Parts: sequence; structure tokens; C-alpha cells
Amino acid sequence: MKKTVLIGVTGCVAIYKACDIIRGLQKAGVRCKVVMTESATHFVNPLLFRSLTREPVAVGLFDDKPGDPIHHISLAKEADVFLIAPCTANVMAKMANGIADDLLTTTALATRAKIVIAPAMNVNMYEHVATQENMKTLKARGITFVDAESGYLACGDVGRGRLADPASIVAQTLEVLCAKRDFEGKNVLITAGPTVEPIDPVRHISNPSSGKTGFALAEAAAERGANVTVVTGPVSLGDPDGVTVLRVKTGLEMLEAVKKHFERSDVSIFTAAVSDYRPANPYDHKLKKGKDDGVLSSIELVENPDILASMAAKKHAGQFVVGFAAETEDVERNARAKMMRKGADMVVANLVGDGLAFGADDNAVTIVTGDGSVSLDTMPKQELAHQILDVITDEIA
Ligand code: CTP
Repeated sequence: MKKTVLIGVTGCVAIYKACDIIRGLQKAGVRCKVVMTESATHFVNPLLFRSLTREPVAVGLFDDKPGDPIHHISLAKEADVFLIAPCTANVMAKMANGIADDLLTTTALATRAKIVIAPAMNVNMYEHVATQENMKTLKARGITFVDAESGYLACGDVGRGRLADPASIVAQTLEVLCAKRDFEGKNVLITAGPTVEPIDPVRHISNPSSGKTGFALAEAAAERGANVTVVTGPVSLGDPDGVTVLRVKTGLEMLEAVKKHFERSDVSIFTAAVSDYRPANPYDHKLKKGKDDGVLSSIELVENPDILASMAAKKHAGQFVVGFAAETEDVERNARAKMMRKGADMVVANLVGDGLAFGADDNAVTIVTGDGSVSLDTMPKQELAHQILDVITDEIA
């Protein structure tokens, strides 16, 4: 059966682009139905959308629809994805506050389908703190945004607020439509980034891990329905939508945070580049050249606890533990040895050095499991994250 995208069209000059969006979705084999706000009908007659979709167009909350007394509920149930494009500041404000005073906003409140919003408005309205906060609220609820672009606006102003390109609205809607939900309800715990081990208030031991792999996995798992907690060392990445991010500095702090969440996690993925050693006695004052040369030239180190190994040792039936390995040679053999040594169920190994992996946007890996291995070619970390999750799904099936 064809999937259905319900397209909410609101009153905005960019409304004419909704036709291209409908065409694009139809070409991809999607059934489109349109619901319009009353304001939208001032720009375009519903007949246009009825002709394009060959489906009745819904407008009024109290319009009589033969055989369907509660139209907003049936529309809400019919939709696999509810795409609102173009979406005005007013409709976003209503949705952020749970207001349902017309058919479109009532349907948005009643639907269990994934919602995609493509905003379009004047630059000052777009940048207004109220609009920005409403968008933040909606994003935090898991709504996908196809962000507005910068450019020449209908009102003559130049700036951000122009409806995104119809082709990218179609692409993102299809992505949401086809998204897997194989992690629905699962608790996923991810460690990410480097750790920072202080020597004194101005010096530390660390490494150049960017946290991108861990954050990409977090985002992908959340998209696939997981409740995700990320425990990360210092990174410059923002919190992915719908993910709980706990920020720590040292390996010991990371261990404490992980301990609190490991017990109830179904899948734990350890991507963090934890410093193997930390200074035994971090100084609370700055060490001075000349005066503290003895300490500075031979800092005493102690080993950090192995977070992955200590959690894997406690895992109970039904828990799946994934380690990462950064190797400079003999990737698969070293990864398998690491998997056995640390008690992990799977190890994702990458080749590092010469600018590979650390901080890059692309990566290639070899995934080692109990009964085999699979090598994945270089691809963006977001895509790689989904492929790693695919392997995990197969393993825990
Ligand atoms: N890891 C961890 N805690 C540590 C060290 C590592 O949780 N103190 C985890 C990493 O997050 C990763 C895996 O262990 O998932 C592999 O880390 P790596 O540093 O490559 O392993 P090492 O045991 O240090 O092995 P070697 O230095 O011999 O390569």
C-alpha cells in the first residue's frame, strides 16, 4: 500500500512551491493529501491542490464530510508523515503551545505520525526570539525541520526566512517516511569525545577526538526510536535533537556518569577516546618553569579505569556492548583481540594516523562480531552510524 504524506499548507506567499513538493512526493510513489488553513485559501483556491492530488482538500474544522464526523482524527490517522510546508510563524507558535483552533493545528495535535516542518516568513519574524524559541521547543519534541534559507524575500527584505528548496523538502520528508524504527523503546548509552586529565589548572593530557562518531550514532539511534543518553568529554558539538547529553571532563567523571546509566541500557556503545593514564596528583596551582621543573619533566601517571571493560564485566543477559578500536595496523586481528580482552559483543575498528578518523567527517571501519567481520568503505559519519546500527540490530535479533 502507498504511504501517505499529509501536507499542511499555511497562508504564506511561498504557497506556490507546495505544488512542486506535491509533484516531487508523487514521483517517489507517495500518496499526498492536503489540509489548508483558512488563510492559505486566500492565496490559493483548494481546487488547485485537489486537482494535483486527486484527493479532497480539507480546510474547515466543521466542514461536513459525508461518513466522517471527526475529520481531524481520521486525517491524523491516515498520515504516515505530516509535512507542514510552507509553515508560518503563527502555526509554529500554536503548535509549540498545543493550541488547536483549526483543522490543521488540531490534526497536528492529534496525529501520532512524524511531523516535518518547512518554515517560511519575513526575516524579522524568523529571527524573533519567540519564533526561535518555538522552533527550539518543536525540535526538542522530535519534529524534523527543513530550515528556511537566506535570500531575497517576497516582502523585499533580504535575509533568512525563504522556504527551503522544494527538492530538499521532498528529500527530507522521504527520509523521515522511510526511517527505520528498529530501536523503538530501547535505551542506548553512548560515550563520546576525548577525556581531559588535568596536570594543573592550565595544563592537561587529552587527545584530538571530536566526538563526531558518538554524536552521529546518538542522532541516528534517536531517529530510529531509541531513548539515547550520551556521556561526552569536552567537544564543540551541540546536543542532538531528542538526546540526553551529559558533559564530563575526566575519565573518572565519565565512569561515574556511565555507571548510573549502564544498568538500564539495552545497547551501550563506547566511542570515547578515554585517556589511558591520568596525572597521579593534579596540582591546584600552576606549576612554574624553573621552580617546578622536576615535576614538569616527569609527571607521575596512574592508569584510568577501563570504562568499557568494567561495564562489560557487569552486563546481564539481553545487554549488548559495543567497543571502538583505533588501530594503526593489523586492524581486524587487533580489534578481535580487543573485543575478547574487554568482554565486548562487537568492536568497530578504524585505522587512525595520517589525518585519518580523528576529527574527520568521513570514516571507513571494520566491524568485528563474535562470528565474523564486515568492512565498510569510506562514508560520512552519519551514514556510517546507521550502518553500525544495522549490524547491531542483526546481532541482537
Ligand atoms: N575505553 C574505555 N575506557 C578506557 C579506555 C578505553 O571505555 N579507559 C574504550 C574506548 O571507548 C573504546 C575501547 O575501549 O571503545 C578501545 O579503546 P583503545 O584505547 O583503543 O583500547 P586500549 O585498551 O587502550 O588498547 P591499545 O592501547 O592497546 O590499543
